[in-house]
Amino acid sequence: LFAGETDFLKGVVAMDGMPPADRLEVCFAGRSNVGKSSLINALTGRKALARTSNTPGRTQEINFFTLAESHYLVDLPGYGFAEAPVAIVQKWQRLLKAYLSGRQTLRRAFVLIDSRHGVKAVDEEILSLLNKSAVTFQVVLTKTDKLKKGELEKVIAQVSTALQKHPAAFPEIVLTSSEKGLGIPTLRHIIGTLV
Ligand code: GTP
Ligand code: MG
Repeated sequence: LFAGETDFLKGVVAMDGMPPADRLEVCFAGRSNVGKSSLINALTGRKALARTSNTPGRTQEINFFTLAESHYLVDLPGYGFAEAPVAIVQKWQRLLKAYLSGRQTLRRAFVLIDSRHGVKAVDEEILSLLNKSAVTFQVVLTKTDKLKKGELEKVIAQVSTALQKHPAAFPEIVLTSSEKGLGIPTLRHIIGTLV
């Protein structure tokens, strides 16, 4: 699947701008700066397909990428905090929630959690929304290159506990580092097995 072509399709700012729901779709959600865009680049093997930045709030639209003509990869604006005006941020949040709860072809939502921070209250809000909307979601820990093994084990335990109250959660937590390429083959495999 990931040997196929990937391309940027469009950035969407309102639900009526969504591309036709005609193929399998996975999205990447998470707090601002968690590493969503970097993960898409790592998965597709293209350094600058999705725009990344040190400044939280880089991705401001719902960005659709085509994968091998059969899938969409969807890069979402971050939630939690962003260096952008409040009114603008609220607009993204509304769009984000409408998308996560209303997209028919969304097959799995990957919820990215920064391995240094664990599950925060804003993440809980998104997990609850996905659970309520019956969207299967799976947690991906990002930036694991920044942690020691013991620290990583602690955060895995915290995330596992947080997931227990959400039946829509896929139980396997994927450990990744976009920088070092860790967990990227695993995640490609998971996406490749969705039907
Ligand atoms: P928004 O679009 O603002 O919501 O952010 P995002 O979640 O798309 O994050 P982005 O991919 O832009 O990455 C944010 C910062 O984290 C950048 O400076 C990346 O270089 C860094 N980063 C992302 N993934 C990793 C990783 O695996 N390891 C390390 N060390 N840094 C990472
Ligand atoms: Mg981004």
